[in-house]
Amino acid sequence: MRLDKYLCEAGLGTRSQVKKLLKSGVVTINGRTARKPEEKIEKSDTVAVSGKELSVSEQEYWMLHKPSGYVSATEDKHFPTVIELLPEEARRDLFPVGRLDRDTEGLLLLTNDGKLAHYLLSPKRHVDKVYYAKVRGKVAEEQVEAFREGVDIGDEKKTLPAVLEVLKCVPAGDAFESEVRVTLREGRYHQIKRMFAALACEVVYLKRLSMGSLKLDESLAPGDCRLLTEKETEALKEETGCLSM
Ligand code: URA
Repeated sequence: MRLDKYLCEAGLGTRSQVKKLLKSGVVTINGRTARKPEEKIEKSDTVAVSGKELSVSEQEYWMLHKPSGYVSATEDKHFPTVIELLPEEARRDLFPVGRLDRDTEGLLLLTNDGKLAHYLLSPKRHVDKVYYAKVRGKVAEEQVEAFREGVDIGDEKKTLPAVLEVLKCVPAGDAFESEVRVTLREGRYHQIKRMFAALACEVVYLKRLSMGSLKLDESLAPGDCRLLTEKETEALKEETGCLSM
């Protein structure tokens, strides 16, 4: 791995911060001062900053197009878990970042990076999660306004303001069905279903499209997964503030 990447993953800052650190001459590889960001390091090397040894376990980031029927957990007594959809060699210590309901589809991130997971889920960090949903009936301005205000879903506090956009309203049997996009900044249990239920509407289909800058790769069929690109991982870390020391 390149030295600058290693230092970023060890939590020492962004690429440019790490570059400055290297220039300042405080980084050593096996006791020798290292200044080149592109220098390659091996697993057996000891990297230190100001004499303090670093350790980074290999962090992995997988994007899964979660299909319906799988629970977002590492173990379950009754249903298959999303972990079973990962390649065998990737299953060791990965966990899903947040939960999608068993019948919800779409973007699910799996990682062993607890810090990034925490940052992505923290309501304080306000990472937008965008969903596509089908809702029975006609969703009207009244519901859009209620989402904008925050909805009382029976918790101690109302939900944070959310964005509800109506994409389409189509006849379904002898009634209507609305296609909507919802943007949330938090992730409470069954949140979208409960927000609609509180407004006397029923969600009949739900799919997560994105989490912050990370968008579901639509070339992944439901049940398929792939590793995140370096660019995707860096962007998530950058926008959540996960890179700062
Ligand atoms: N809101 C829900 O109701 N369910 C999900 O799976 C995600 C958001």
